[in-house]
Amino acid sequence: MSSPVSPLTLSAIVTGLRAAGCVFAEDEAALLLSTATGPAHLAAMVERRADGLPLEHVLGFAEFCGLRIAVGPGVFVPRRRSEFLVRQAGAVAPARPVVVDLCCGSGALGAVLASTLAGVELHAADVDPAAVRWARRNLAGLGEVYEGDLFAPLPASLRGRVDVLLANVPYVPTGDVDLLPAEARVHEPRVALDGGGDGLDVMRRVAGAALDWLAPGGSLLVETSERQAAVAEETLRAGGLVPRVVVSEELYATVVTGTRPGRDGA
Ligand SMILES: C[S@@+](CC[C@H](N)C(=O)[O-])C[C@H]1O[C@@H](n2cnc3c(N)ncnc32)[C@H](O)[C@@H]1O
Repeated sequence: MSSPVSPLTLSAIVTGLRAAGCVFAEDEAALLLSTATGPAHLAAMVERRADGLPLEHVLGFAEFCGLRIAVGPGVFVPRRRSEFLVRQAGAVAPARPVVVDLCCGSGALGAVLASTLAGVELHAADVDPAAVRWARRNLAGLGEVYEGDLFAPLPASLRGRVDVLLANVPYVPTGDVDLLPAEARVHEPRVALDGGGDGLDVMRRVAGAALDWLAPGGSLLVETSERQAAVAEETLRAGGLVPRVVVSEELYATVVTGTRPGRDGA
C-alpha cells in the first residue's frame, strides 16, 4: 500500500474480521493490507471478506507451491493439500514430460509443473468456462488450455503420449456438499466439488479412459479422501493401471497413482 495505515486501522480490520468469524484475522488483515492499492481498495476488500468471500478471491491470488496463482469469483481455490499431488507428479515425471492437467480449475497444478520441470509439454482442460478463463491467464506461455468434458477437448495426437496425467477431480460425496464451509459451498462452483454419490463418479470416468491416453510407463494421479482411497485404488486397477496409494500426514492428503505398465510389462 502506498499510504500509511495506522495501528488503529489495523486493529479495526482485525476486530471486524474476527467479528465476521475469520479465525486467522491477524494474518488475513496483514495480507489484505499488503495487497491493497489504497484505502478505498482496502475498505472494499475488508467488506468482501467480512461478507464471507474466500480470502483468495478477495486478494485475487492463491499461494500454491511458492507461486501466486490468479483466482477470483467463480473458480475453485487451489488447496494447500494438493501440493502433495504436485510433488508426487514431479516425482514420477520423466525428462521433458508430456503433462495433462485434467479438471484444471485455475491451472495451478499444471502451472507448478511447467515452472519447475524442464521441457514440459503442458495441456490443461476443464468443463467450466469460468475455470478455463482463469487457467488461460495462469498458463499463458506455459501450455494450452481446452474447454470441455474430461478428455473430449484434448487433441487426438496426445493419445498414448501422456507421461503425467493429473486429475484433481471433484470428490466430495453429494450428501456432504452441504456440510462444507460456506466459503466453498456458496462461493465455489458446485461442479468443482460434487463428485456424485460416493464422490468418485468423475474419478471413475477418468480411470476408465486413462489407459488410452497414457504413454507406456505414464501415470495418472488423483487426490482422494483417506476413506475413498481403497475404492480409488481398485478402480485404477480395473482401468488397467498399476495402483499405489501415498499419504501425507503433514498435509492431510491422499494421492492414488495408477501407472500404465511399460512396453516390457513392468
Ligand atoms: C476440485 S476442482 C480442482 C481444480 C484444480 N485442479 C485445483 O486443484 O485447484 C475440480 C475441477 O474439475 C472441473 N470439472 C468437473 N467436472 C468436470 C468434467 N466432467 N470435465 C472437466 N472438468 C471437470 C471443475 O470445473 C473444477 O474446476
